[in-house]
Amino acid sequence: MIIIIAAVGKNLELGYKNQLLWHLKEDMDYFKKVTTGSIVVMGRKTFESIGRPLPNRENIVISKSIKHIDGVKIIDDPHKILEYNGKIFIIGGEQIYKFFLPYVDKIYLTEIDKVALADSFFPEFNKDDYEEEIVGRGSDNDIDYTFKIYHKK
Ligand SMILES: NC(=O)c1ccc[n+]([C@@H]2O[C@H](COP(=O)([O-])OP(=O)(O)OC[C@H]3O[C@@H](n4cnc5c(N)ncnc54)[C@H](OP(=O)(O)O)[C@@H]3O)[C@@H](O)[C@H]2O)c1
Repeated sequence: MIIIIAAVGKNLELGYKNQLLWHLKEDMDYFKKVTTGSIVVMGRKTFESIGRPLPNRENIVISKSIKHIDGVKIIDDPHKILEYNGKIFIIGGEQIYKFFLPYVDKIYLTEIDKVALADSFFPEFNKDDYEEEIVGRGSDNDIDYTFKIYHKK
């Protein structure tokens, strides 16, 4: 099962200069809870932005330029992931979300009620193709956010 997980602003902003735009404690905890014990797949730039493998998860980095990182499996073609079984969480960034969107079963989206200067964006997707489930709401330092799961119909 291919599951995307991302946190986005009102304009689907994802990041700027290879960094996240917001650091919401509850969202970080949610990400950890949802992904722990599963496989996480990310692009090389997102891996570099995080800087280390995420603990208690099998980390797969997609890259053509890098051949080895300790504690990480590197794959040079994202199509190979489509042959995997089990829960596969696609954790970004823009390029990797774009690749996997057509294959996705669910999208876990934290929708943050803010706009921000960004240079990477989550791909536009047609909400009519999904059932929308609200699983929680929160607020942190005046930043409101909603945890949603979009289930592919
Ligand atoms: N808000 C969120 O939830 C969230 C989550 C994750 C990331 N982000 C943000 O997203 C931004 C990074 O996104 P990005 O799009 O610039 O980078 P990215 O998707 O993380 O990584 C891009 C890299 O992945 C590899 N790649 C992509 N497609 C490939 C393919 N078809 N075959 C082989 N390798 C492929 C390439 O690595 P090589 O160049 O090494 O070949 C490419 O340079 C950052 O700002 C980050 O903070 C936000």
